[in-house]
Formats: sequence, structure tokens, C-alpha cells
Amino acid sequence: MNSLSTTEEKVLSITNLSKRYEEAGHKVHALKHTSLHLKQGEFLAIMGTSGSGKSTFLNLVGALDSPNEGTIALNGRVHPDMFKEPYATQYRSENIGFIFQSYNLLKDLSVEENIALPLILKNIPVKEMKARVAEMVGLVGLSDWRKHRPVQLSGGQQQRVAIARALITKPPIILADEPTGNLDFNTTTEVLRVLGQMKEQLGQSIILVTHDPYVATFADRVLFFHDGQIAAEYICRKDEQDMDRILSRFRAIMGRAQ
Ligand SMILES: Nc1ncnc2c1ncn2[C@@H]1O[C@H](COP(=O)(O)OP(=O)(O)O)[C@@H](O)[C@H]1O
Ligand SMILES: [Mg+2]
Repeated sequence: MNSLSTTEEKVLSITNLSKRYEEAGHKVHALKHTSLHLKQGEFLAIMGTSGSGKSTFLNLVGALDSPNEGTIALNGRVHPDMFKEPYATQYRSENIGFIFQSYNLLKDLSVEENIALPLILKNIPVKEMKARVAEMVGLVGLSDWRKHRPVQLSGGQQQRVAIARALITKPPIILADEPTGNLDFNTTTEVLRVLGQMKEQLGQSIILVTHDPYVATFADRVLFFHDGQIAAEYICRKDEQDMDRILSRFRAIMGRAQ
């Protein structure tokens, strides 16, 4: 187990994580001995070709699936039951906010009811719940829409509801799988701005999977997955050339795939 002194500013220390799937006798090594440190407050983007293991990696970090090998230390400690129920559910509810491409909102619930769901599941008292939901609805700029249902909102607004729902419990880690995959350029910018503002306020660490180099420029660091492994890394310099550099590294990885 890692000692706290070497990992104290690291929220997650992922070591040697591997995942193999077997379907109809066909084996796929989806993730191969992947190691990664995620710092407190860090915004990490993951890019890579389709099938390179990005979602598999995110699902393991979120304990939605269990690895064949490897460990994940949270704040320097490995929990032996991290991937087993009932602890996996507890780990998720205490530490992880998920955001998906398809928003996954409940269509019969209003904006504020969707956002309140994680608090309802945690049995937070109604008065506190209402106050926190009102605050969060304001933070994502949807106060005028709080009584509406998801179908009445644009894609960008729906994704802002999903962000608010993911952040309402103030989890230290946000995992987002192609969160802007269904959005146009302006809406993508708007959603990433909201996510960035929330991160500033709440100090979360984010791992975000994207195929879009523009989205990756919002991150502090970009990892490029290829064939189940981290093939390259880019530290964003926050200048105008970030996008070109990310694109050229991505193309170099794509070249390996051909
Ligand atoms: N539940 C599963 N059962 C079998 N194979 C899977 C499963 N999930 C993913 N895979 C396979 O693992 C590899 C990596 O998939 P995935 O992590 O979804 O890639 P990405 O998100 O980068 O597109 C692919 O070859 C995919 O077909
Ligand atoms: Mg995927």
C-alpha cells in the first residue's frame, strides 16, 4: 500500500489496472496494466481511438466494473472491497459524480427533482435538500427552468442538469464519458464553462473522455489511449497552440492504429 506521505496530494493512484472481457469465446484485453496519478483539483482529459479502452478505464475508476488486476488507491489508501458490493456503491456515492453523453435524466421528473435525486437517495432532510438544489440550479444557470421537464430543454441545458446532479453531493471526483458528444460547438463551450466554474468553486478532480481536441484544451493534462494503454501524454500550456498540438499527437496515435 502507498504511504500517505508520497500520495497526499493525489486523490487517485491507479496502479497496473487491467481488464479482460470474454464474449462468445473471444477474448479482448480492453485495458493493459495502466497506471496513473490524479491530483486534487486536476482536470484530466482522455482521448483515443474507438475501442482503445477509455470507457473501460472510466468504469473501473468509478467501480462500475471490476478489474482483473491492479489497484486504485483513494487518498493514499487501497480499500480491499472497492469493487465488491456493498462497498462499491458506497464508494461511488461518497466519491464519484458521473456525467454521460446521453445525460441519463429521468424524463418524468422536473429539473429540480432530477438534481435532487442523489440527495434523496442519501436521505438528506427536505429543508437542506431544497436549499442545496436551489443553490445548484442557480450555479448552472437554470433557475428559470427548474420546474420544466428534460424534454422541454435544449441539449446543453439537459447536460447542465446532469452536471448539477453529478455535483450536488460535492463528490471529490467527476467522471465524464463524452459529455459534449451530442452538443454543438457553442453549447459545448457553455457546458465546459459551467463545469470549469463548478470545479473552481468545489475543487473537484475531473477525468473526462472526449474525441474532440477542442474539449481537451480545457483540461490541465491530456492522456492518449491506444490499444488499452496510455500511449502519450500532453500537458496543456493554455495558449493558442494547445489545440494543434493535441490534434497532432492524436493523429500520431491514429497513425499507429492503421
Ligand atoms: N462489456 C463488454 N464485453 C465485451 N467486450 C467489451 C465490453 N466493454 C468493452 N468491450 C471491448 O473492450 C474494448 C475497449 O472498449 P471501450 O473501453 O468501450 O473503448 P472506448 O471507450 O475507448 O471506445 C473494445 O474492444 C470493446 O469492444
Ligand atoms: Mg467509450
